[in-house]
Amino acid sequence: MQSVTSRFALRGFLIDAPDFGSLRARPNGAILIENGRIAAVGDYDDLRRLHQPNSIQWPDLGPVAIFPGLIDCHTHLPQYSAVARGESELLPWLRQHIFPVEREFTGPKAREEAPRFFHELARNGTTTVMAYAAIYEESCDIGFEAARRSGVRTILGKMMMDHGSYGQTQPKKILSISLLESERLCRKWHKAENGLLDYAFSPRFAVTCSEKLMRGAAELAARFGAYIQTHLAENREELEKVRHLHMTARDYTDVYEKCGLLTQRTMLGHCIHLNPREIAAIAAAQSSVAHCPSSNLFLGSGLMKLDQILKAGINVGLGSDVAGGPELDMWQVMRAAIEVQKARTAYEPNLRPLRPSEALYLATRGGARALGKNTAIGTLDPGKEADLIVIDLQALLPYPQNRNAIVGLTPEDVVALCIYRSGPHANLETYVRGRRIYQAPKVANRV
Ligand code: GUN
Ligand code: FE
Repeated sequence: MQSVTSRFALRGFLIDAPDFGSLRARPNGAILIENGRIAAVGDYDDLRRLHQPNSIQWPDLGPVAIFPGLIDCHTHLPQYSAVARGESELLPWLRQHIFPVEREFTGPKAREEAPRFFHELARNGTTTVMAYAAIYEESCDIGFEAARRSGVRTILGKMMMDHGSYGQTQPKKILSISLLESERLCRKWHKAENGLLDYAFSPRFAVTCSEKLMRGAAELAARFGAYIQTHLAENREELEKVRHLHMTARDYTDVYEKCGLLTQRTMLGHCIHLNPREIAAIAAAQSSVAHCPSSNLFLGSGLMKLDQILKAGINVGLGSDVAGGPELDMWQVMRAAIEVQKARTAYEPNLRPLRPSEALYLATRGGARALGKNTAIGTLDPGKEADLIVIDLQALLPYPQNRNAIVGLTPEDVVALCIYRSGPHANLETYVRGRRIYQAPKVANRV
């Protein structure tokens, strides 16, 4: 891993999505990075002329596309080893496949897996992640330490649950311990590493949390200005359970509302089975939604009504939701987002499908907005922190030897190629705040 280079440039097909439905591109573009920030963006020839060639590195990476780093708004650190496991829906899947691996995620196992998890994120081009650890304080601490070393921008929290945690009976003190440990972690890690790390209070969902726990989490998050993350309305059986557990609530969202969990810094995972009142309540609270389409397909949870959530003005990002989703690759999550909306159009003919450029927006600037980090990351604007990925365009082509095939590509072509064919095999470099946190071995060998 290189140390922070104060000034360097990258040349390539620059593409970003500043708004839902809009793409910005410079086919022969260049980007100048100074002290971790984007100092200038322009056409290669202009930028090269303006900036003395001998004072600056211009590495030749070949035909590449440069995007803002991908943002994963919802995933689970301890679950990565259990991807693609099981055939059941959410609640039995959690019991049979997930709680057993989370229960083990501490000590040597966590120390071995956490650095590899963050390396995988960087390799896949994810520059910002919001994730859950296991219930143990140590698992979260190890996670933060691995995040810090990896350079990935990370929002993480200790999983909180005081009902039926990992299927075990609970000691009476579990509620106070959970709050105490979460507070300690928040004091240690929130806004650490110059703001690259943040803490999220993480009550799992209304099925495994008492109202007291949820209220306590909300109070702590307010006191420290920290994030909150939880799951909402993912699966029909879950909805039934919540209805029986929280009889006085108007609906699922009301359970969280009453406990103070709906804030401007709240990320709500899934949000598939919501009524109009719930959507309005989330919008009024300015909470954000993490749409996890690959997970929703894997677990058969349902097809998210993305148009309704967006129409309400709610900020939406995308989440891999590993191990509900089978991979960390956000290009695959974008693809799933498109395919979920396409599947809906079969039954709702007036619905407009999600376009590749819109999916890219959700995985970049949409995610940045959903995390309240929109002024720092999410686009290639000068002044922003340089969170970038470099994609090998030739690796995406069906006949990679044919270099001319790249010449006529439109920005929309490049985005679609990435969504349908990209992945870690094509990701050459990943930068966070101007620091290269991943470099593909083939590039390292070439230089
Ligand atoms: N709901 C509560 N916990 C989980 C989890 O770990 N994964 C998913 N997909 N949904 C959940
Ligand atoms: Fe999840």
